[in-house]
Order: sequence, then C-alpha cells, then structure tokens
Amino acid sequence: MQSLQFNSATLASKTMSAEAAAALIPAGARVGMSGFTGAGYPKAVPAALAERIKKLRAAGEDFRIGLWTGASTASELDGVLAEADGISMRLPYQSDPTVRRQINAGQVQYTDIHLSHVAQLAWFGFLGNLDVAVVEVAGVTPDGLLVPSTSIGNNKSWLQLADTIILEINTLQNPKLEGMHDIYYGTHLPPKRQPIPLLHAGDRIGQPYLQVDWSRVAAVVYTHQPDRNSAFAAPDDHSQRIASHIIDFLSQEVALGRLPKELLPLQSGVGNIANAVLSGLNEGPFENMTSYTEVLQDGMLAMLKSGKLSMASATALSFSPDALQEFNENIDFYRQRIVLRPQEMSNHPELVRRLGVIAMNAMIEADIYGNVNSTHIMGTRMMNGIGGSGDFARNAYLSFFMTPSTAKDGSISCIVPMVSHVDHTEHDVEIIVTEQGLADLRGLSPTQRARLVIEKCAHPDFKPALRDYFERALASQGGKHTPHLLMEALSWHQRFVETGRMLQSGPEAASQSA
Ligand code: COA
Repeated sequence: MQSLQFNSATLASKTMSAEAAAALIPAGARVGMSGFTGAGYPKAVPAALAERIKKLRAAGEDFRIGLWTGASTASELDGVLAEADGISMRLPYQSDPTVRRQINAGQVQYTDIHLSHVAQLAWFGFLGNLDVAVVEVAGVTPDGLLVPSTSIGNNKSWLQLADTIILEINTLQNPKLEGMHDIYYGTHLPPKRQPIPLLHAGDRIGQPYLQVDWSRVAAVVYTHQPDRNSAFAAPDDHSQRIASHIIDFLSQEVALGRLPKELLPLQSGVGNIANAVLSGLNEGPFENMTSYTEVLQDGMLAMLKSGKLSMASATALSFSPDALQEFNENIDFYRQRIVLRPQEMSNHPELVRRLGVIAMNAMIEADIYGNVNSTHIMGTRMMNGIGGSGDFARNAYLSFFMTPSTAKDGSISCIVPMVSHVDHTEHDVEIIVTEQGLADLRGLSPTQRARLVIEKCAHPDFKPALRDYFERALASQGGKHTPHLLMEALSWHQRFVETGRMLQSGPEAASQSA
C-alpha cells in the first residue's frame, strides 16, 4: 500500500507556512475541511486565511468561501473565518456562536444535512465541485500514507474529490493514534454499490490510513496545537433523572426478552444529558456493552475503562482535558477497543439498522404526537443542526429523544401541542424522556401518544394547558386522527414562549398573555 507520487523528498518540498498555504485558496472556492465535534480540525490555515480575507476586504475586495466539514469545529476554524466575514455558505453542521448569529442574520447560507448523506451528495455532484481540501493528519508514513487525526469525518472523500489539497500535520496529536482508524474504500456509486461487509460494531473492514494523491497536495503545514477539548458539566439532577428513566426502561426490555442482557450497540448524542446517561449506564446493571456511535466523549471512555463497554466505534474523539489525559496515558489499552471510521460508515443508515443500534439523542422540543424539533428555537432560529440524529433515529432498534421538560428556568415547556419545526417525525420517534418520566410511543395511535406524552413527560406547570388543548381539539374535531386546533397550536409558541410566563391554567390565561 503506497500513496501516489510520494518519495522521500516530497514532504520537505511541499512544506510551507500557513500564510503561503492560505494564499492557494481562491475567492469563492468550495473548501472541504477536516473537523468533527471540535476534534481533528485544521488549526493554522483557517486563521491565516481569515487574516488574508480581512486584508483583502480592507482593500475593497470581497472574499468568501463555501465551507464544508465533517461536523462542528472550533473557534480556530469556524470562529475566525466567521469573524472575518469569510463564509458564504456552510454545511453540514456547526455549533459556533458567530456562525450561528450569521446564519440567523441571513449572512451565511446554511445547508443542514444528515451527516451520513454529506459524502454521497458530494460524490453525486449535487453540491458542486470541491475546489480545495484542508485536512489535519497526525502523521505521514514512509510510504506517503496519512495517519488520521482525532476525527475522520468526511476526510476520505475530501481527499479523493478536491482539486487542491492542503495538509496540516499536527505534531501534538498522539502518534500512537496510528492503527486506531478503519478507512473503508469499498464504497461505490449506484448502480455499482456493494453491501458493506461490517457485521459487528467492532469489525475492521478497511485500512488504518488515508490515501492521498500527492500530485494534488499543494502544501504541507506543520502545527502543534491541541483540539478544543471542552469540559462537561457534572450531571445535574434533571440529567440524572433522565438517565435513570432510560436505564429502568432498558432493564424492563431485557426482562421482557426484547433486548439481550448486554443490550445492543449504543449511540449517544452530544452534550451534557447524553454524557449523564452514559455515566448512569456505567454505574448500572449492564455488562459487556458495545457502541456504534458518532462521537466518543468522556462517558464512553469511562465505560471502556471500567470494562462495562467492551468496544466503541465512532468517527471522532471529543474529550474534556481530564479524559484526554487519561486517553493519552493509556492509548495502547484504548487502541484495542476503539475504531474510528469515516462518518459515512459511523452513521450509515443500513449499518445502524442491521446492527440494531439503540439511539439516544437530545432535542429542543417534542409535541404531544411525538414529532421532534432538534434544530430551531421558536421555529425560526437555527441552533446547531440535525447532525447525525436523523441517521440514527429513523434506523435504530430503539430511538430515544431526551430533554428537560422545561427550558429557560421553567418558563418554556419543551412539550408543546405542535413542534415549531420538525426534524424527526412521529414515525421515527419511539421514546420521549424528560426528568418527569418516559413515554413509550411504540405501536400507539396519535391520540394514545398525546395522552401519554402529556401525563409522563410534561412539567406539572404546563400539564393543565396541554390537557386542555388536547381535550378541546379532540372534542371539536369529533375524533379525527390527529386532532389539532391549528391557529391555537401555531400561536402556542408566541403566547407561551415569547411572554416567558409560567402558566398554571388553560387557554384563558394563555389568551390574556397573548
Ligand atoms: N425553547 C426555547 N429554547 C430552548 C428550548 C425550547 N424548547 N430548549 C432548549 N432551549 C435553549 C436552551 O435554553 C439553551 O439556550 P442558551 O444557549 O441560551 O442557554 C439552548 O437552547 C441549548 O439548550 P441546552 O439545554 O443547553 O441543550 P443541549 O446542549 O443539551 O443541546 C440540542 C440540545 C438539541 C441543541 C443539541 O443536542 C443538538 O444540537 N442536537 C441536534 C444534533 C444532534 O442530535 N446530534 C447528535 C447526533 S449523534
């Protein structure tokens, strides 16, 4: 195995400063950068490009790029480029405050895509030509193969598709990452697609290195900088209660013979609630679990260490500083138990369904019928994006959506008559969990679901208003399949959210506050 056009002089001949590499990116280019959940993103070229953009703009020249990544990155990539007003379009996921502000101000055109779809859309040509790839790697082998960094994301596809490639070699990444990755090159376009030969979450079906055509590598830049590595909040009372509802439910499913005692491969979304659920599972009754997930965060590392989790498959490592230290100090142990894959494999719908993944994702709000909003505040303001939640939710063996029952200090109900934006329809959502309780919606009709969601998941402050809404909708429509009072449902957010008032009673109070 050897990458094309590589010899012992190649690296030195292509090495240059970040500024010189950034100068190779033309205005208006579509640029595919590495990076997934604050891991493995380029750290020097984006900053140099941002400085170049600022200088050009001061001289009266407009310069913006289309920015494609694996998922969210960090202030050294999204942040600096957005602050320089250098991003015209963005896909497929972000969580940067400046980018978010610009998306919601209409400055950045944001294409929010299921993470498993991104590579194939690029390959189909639906996103246009990829002009430049900027990819962080942990090293280069003597044969010119690339040792991937702390995330893989879409790097395989960016390296294959881009006209021009800029590599950042980050010498701070642990060289012992080598061997942890599994890059599968067997994907083809329809009608030549073949089944993916992955039968168990821990299978290795590819090779540990990324290949690159060195004739297209225009620059190599050396960096020595850490990933974002944000700390997680300690699990709060709400997260712990959500975790315990899920663990009780899983125990019942095992007792009923609907799950094996080691469960099925776990997928866990990002954030503090997801991390708290993993902490709960680490203390809980299940042994020898596996995971087939997108991001490996602190909770799963602790489960690997305790032995509760026998292996984990993901596309990115996203650790707090303490967990990163633990990982680096014991990387030989973790390398035998962690497989990092391209996101088109980690999130692949067919694999998620075949393996029978248990999906657990956070949300912004759910409605009484089971539709879920993961992305928009008040139906219009983009938060982050759908990420991988849809890849997993629709195809999982069991699909949980979790949220505290209220937001903003109790003033907003996260259970509403009709979600203000739909990411996951009632057909994909099986179990809704808040700190109040868990609603198992499997096999239920809309009216059965509504009663259960209100009684099990809504906060007591909002139950009267939700019950009242549902009963009046039901009565007014003589038992229609999904009863709604449309004008009232649509104005719920306006009345209940914008006023920010806690409502103890029904629609009278609501209309007074309108
Ligand atoms: N109405 C209004 N605001 C709400 C709200 C609601 N129903 N629910 C939450 N919010 C606000 C919170 O108050 C908070 O606001 P702040 O930033 O001003 O403090 C913000 O939304 C985020 O809420 P928080 O409770 O901190 O959420 P989180 O960090 O647990 O993230 C999601 C929740 C849904 C935003 C996040 O999980 C996400 O982006 N999901 C989509 C992608 C995904 O699922 N990825 C994983 C797949 S592998």
